[in-house]
Amino acid sequence: MTPVALRWSGDAAGTLELLDQTLLPGRVSWLACRDVPVVIEAIRSLRVRGAPAIGIAGAYGTVLAAAEATRLQLAPAPALAHVQARAAELATARPTAVNLRWAVARCLRALDALPAGAPAAALATTLLATAREIHAEDERLCAAMGRHGAAVLPPGGVLTHCNTGGLATGGVGTALAAITTAWDQGRRFEVFADETRPLLQGARLTAWELVQRGIPVTVLCDGAAAALLATGRVGSCIVGADRIAANGDAANKIGTYGLALVAAAHGIPFFVAAPSSTFDLTLATGAGIPIEERAAAEVLAPLGVPAAPAGARAYNPAFDVTPAHLIRGLITEHGVISPVTAAEILQVLGP
Ligand code: MRU
Repeated sequence: MTPVALRWSGDAAGTLELLDQTLLPGRVSWLACRDVPVVIEAIRSLRVRGAPAIGIAGAYGTVLAAAEATRLQLAPAPALAHVQARAAELATARPTAVNLRWAVARCLRALDALPAGAPAAALATTLLATAREIHAEDERLCAAMGRHGAAVLPPGGVLTHCNTGGLATGGVGTALAAITTAWDQGRRFEVFADETRPLLQGARLTAWELVQRGIPVTVLCDGAAAALLATGRVGSCIVGADRIAANGDAANKIGTYGLALVAAAHGIPFFVAAPSSTFDLTLATGAGIPIEERAAAEVLAPLGVPAAPAGARAYNPAFDVTPAHLIRGLITEHGVISPVTAAEILQVLGP
């Protein structure tokens, strides 16, 4: 069974429930979000994480904003202003994954169809319908990426980085979906998961998802990836993305770029799987992608355990950018984009 990252409970005055990923794999605990600040805190602290999943959380967050306006009995104009202000806060809760901004903007656009002066409760109903649509759509896109990804995975072991499964999306995942779909088709191969420093999404989340599904997984330190690739046990690497520029440069969890360089050095195909909502065609290259810098404590005291002397500083970018020329194919819901060029991307995704 693919784990579920988030769900909506009730009607437009309902609750967003998030599986608190900071507690995994030790504890499965659901966090009930009834207002926007709780959702923003959950996104910032990675209780919900992964580009598509934070987009969906942001979409449901706009429903909570409209429900707040209803509870406050705001008149139509201030209610709309309240939703727009909360939406702006949600959209910028984390900077790198463009899915968040994309999903929140889509929710706000849905309000344009309402008559002027629509009451707050009507805003909430429309926003919930849109958020549910985005959620259900992501589930379908994940299934499609799983099929396209499984079809291009060459024989041999597969190495992945970070977490790109059910916990990171509204469905079976992006990169991890390729692995689980191939496995469900009866193919058998070794699956390797980089632990993914500093927050260990690979060890804590990817390994947990695979163990839940009965797929054997081997976890390795990020620094062991080059040695593993040198053994010849890995036939391909596949990762997700948080934002992909028009030329195919892809931002993903820190360590992805290094892995792509090592894969290139060993002639191992390197794939990136992401839905069209992760592409930002307004950016010509990856140089324009904002990279989130996170707290020094994540590096200096991993999982709260001090590991460096007081006084040491930290360098902690959460993402890096892999240049398009290192990527063999971009696996999208529409199929695999290869070679990875601006022209091919435009042809598959449209303007
Ligand atoms: O900081 P995180 O855990 O949100 O980073 C997640 C990643 O980098 C994923 O690889 C990416 O969002 C793709 S998720 C399908």
